[in-house]
Amino acid sequence: MPLTANRSTLTQFLIEERRRFPCASGDFNALILDVALACKGIARAVAFGELGGVMGNHAAAQGGSVNVQGETQKKLDVLSNDVFIRRTEWAGNLAGMASEEMDLPYQIPGQFPRGKYLLVFDPLDGSSNIDVNVSVGSIFSVLRAPQEVEDSGRDVTEADFLQPGASQVAAGYALYGPTTMLVLTVGDGVNGFTLDPNLGEFMLTHPKMQIPADTQEFAINASNSRFWEAPVKRYVDECLAGKTGPRAKDFNMRWIASMVAEAHRILMRGGVFLYPRDTKDASRPGRLRLLYEANPIGMLMEQAGGRASTGHQPMLGVKPGSLHQRIGLVFGSRSEVERIERYHAEPVKTEQTNPLFAERSLFRV
Ligand code: AHG
Ligand code: MN
Ligand code: MN
Repeated sequence: MPLTANRSTLTQFLIEERRRFPCASGDFNALILDVALACKGIARAVAFGELGGVMGNHAAAQGGSVNVQGETQKKLDVLSNDVFIRRTEWAGNLAGMASEEMDLPYQIPGQFPRGKYLLVFDPLDGSSNIDVNVSVGSIFSVLRAPQEVEDSGRDVTEADFLQPGASQVAAGYALYGPTTMLVLTVGDGVNGFTLDPNLGEFMLTHPKMQIPADTQEFAINASNSRFWEAPVKRYVDECLAGKTGPRAKDFNMRWIASMVAEAHRILMRGGVFLYPRDTKDASRPGRLRLLYEANPIGMLMEQAGGRASTGHQPMLGVKPGSLHQRIGLVFGSRSEVERIERYHAEPVKTEQTNPLFAERSLFRV
């Protein structure tokens, strides 16, 4: 029987945090609690698996549906998106929402009051893993709506969401793994909560999470190696060369294909994650999405003492150009991310310049 009596609940944690802001209205806390309830609902739907009738592609009878990214939607992608909307739209805390699964911003329906926050989310991250029973999660980011939106209560537009990650008020993810966890930053460090299935409450189990500065573990989808840019090739080659290479230590590798699960591993024991910009598809500068994947994970990393970058600049400084913009993403232990940024900043050495000093590339084809 787990001992929970001596732990804070998420509600208690949020109330204690709010005491730092005596003028706060409570809207923000109410919003986070609604998001947490959405995550509990999704956790249950995921846990029933095949028994819940929610596996497989959405609208399979019509040959499947695709989202704005051109990706096939799973039933659980669509269900999770609906759960986020239904749990958060009614309370008067939101001016609007945006999600991976919705082409356009979501307008708060007329029967509900409108509020001052924007909620941006990836309702189910790693959804290609659902059918094989591997961890998935939800990622969310909270922004302040522009003052004029709050004052007028007008419909939100795409432009209202195009704020750099540094403007986020809060960010977090839920992880639906062997245990369900909620990991949250409200701009004052990162705290991890574990769902107590008996109480249905998130309990503070991982206060003040900090990423170890150094690491010997990296995560990248190596099947893309022929499309990588030179600085990424160099970094990975040096890791693979291990003790006998320039890093003079052996590295371990992981790839779950659920970024949220990789982010959690890195928060717990360090490491670095790369889904860099590559040359695979010129129309896609990276795989992951800036507003609801890179930015919230970036804020969590920075708040835990790590770093997030495009390879060329800090992620949280990027001014978004569109709602579903993709971007190269590198995050994790600070010293490794800084090394990768250094490699991007250095002039590329090529065999043409001096074949004697050409870098060995274990992935060269
Ligand atoms: P989503 O399921 O929300 O579309 O995101 C999946 C993402 C991310 O979680 C993961 O790191 C990456 O896609 C995996 O990509 P590959 O299949 O290219 O490895
Ligand atoms: Mn995702
Ligand atoms: Mn998703």
